[in-house]
Amino acid sequence: MSRFRTLPKVELHLHAEGTLEPELAFALARRNGIELPFASEAELRAAYDFTDLQSFLDLYYATTAVLWTRRDFDDLLWAYLQRSAEQGLQHVEVFFDPQAHTVRGVAFTDIVDGLGDALTRARTELGITGGLIMCFLRDRPVTEAARTLDEAATRLDALLGVGLDSAEVGFPPGPFAEVFARAAQLGLRRVAHAGEEAPASSVLEALDTLGVERIDHGVRALDDPHLVERLVREEIPLTVCPLSNLRLRVVDDLARHPLPAMLAAGLKVSLHSDDPAYFGGYVGDTFDAVARSLGLDDETAALLSRNAVAGSFATAERKTELLTAIERWLTGPR
Ligand code: HPA
Ligand code: ZN
Repeated sequence: MSRFRTLPKVELHLHAEGTLEPELAFALARRNGIELPFASEAELRAAYDFTDLQSFLDLYYATTAVLWTRRDFDDLLWAYLQRSAEQGLQHVEVFFDPQAHTVRGVAFTDIVDGLGDALTRARTELGITGGLIMCFLRDRPVTEAARTLDEAATRLDALLGVGLDSAEVGFPPGPFAEVFARAAQLGLRRVAHAGEEAPASSVLEALDTLGVERIDHGVRALDDPHLVERLVREEIPLTVCPLSNLRLRVVDDLARHPLPAMLAAGLKVSLHSDDPAYFGGYVGDTFDAVARSLGLDDETAALLSRNAVAGSFATAERKTELLTAIERWLTGPR
């Protein structure tokens, strides 16, 4: 059993669609009368051999097409929550990609209501808190993002914030500045993927043009010492996903992942799973993989969890509760 199983964990970088395991994909395809372009679960799993972010996204959007109803989105996230509860998950801020569904004809409200149903149940049955972060697809037109924000404006009760994801190279953050400004006016928190495949300058651009409070990935920030200094000074959280970086070949070996360098630089790094169904591990598995490849003592594991709590959008009361639980893990009997 994992040494870190009972360490309280917070997921800040988790795509709902990236939790779709092959078994559920086929079950939903059957339920909705959809043909998946794979003969079996094993054949689908065998396709998880990615060469870069785009090769993953092609498969991710193809399997996402099995999701249609409020119940589908509920089942999807509930399966993730149950599995992650066993790995010590306490709080999760869930990314989702409404445009991947609304362009197919799925109703925006069915997506947020279904995901919301699972989060409500998680709170009462599993003690897991959390919320939803709606991501705009950066490789689709800005006008589509603006229309998606219009829909979100009618359901602000269901959302914590907005994010930016999908293909990064060739799709800089700048054009989304107005959409993000309006999201802020609506009271939504702001985050963005940056510095995953694109260089450090994309992290800087996300900070300056979108006003984001967290950077998702940000591993390439290390290439720019001035940027690192700013991220440290402004205590900008970086949500790092080592298994994702390995499977999408951002790094060629987990043992050479920049996580230790990022920690040594004083960056506010935390550990997350990104798309656990595709990248070979949930949040607890991620701690274990880092421990195996890079070494991870209890103090550093607790620091990574503490950074996630500090960088989260949880209430001050919930943050205190989680920080207390982490200290109890670190100092008490397991
Ligand atoms: N990067 C960009 N977009 C994504 C990712 C990612 O790691 N996962 C799901 N959408
Ligand atoms: Zn991501």
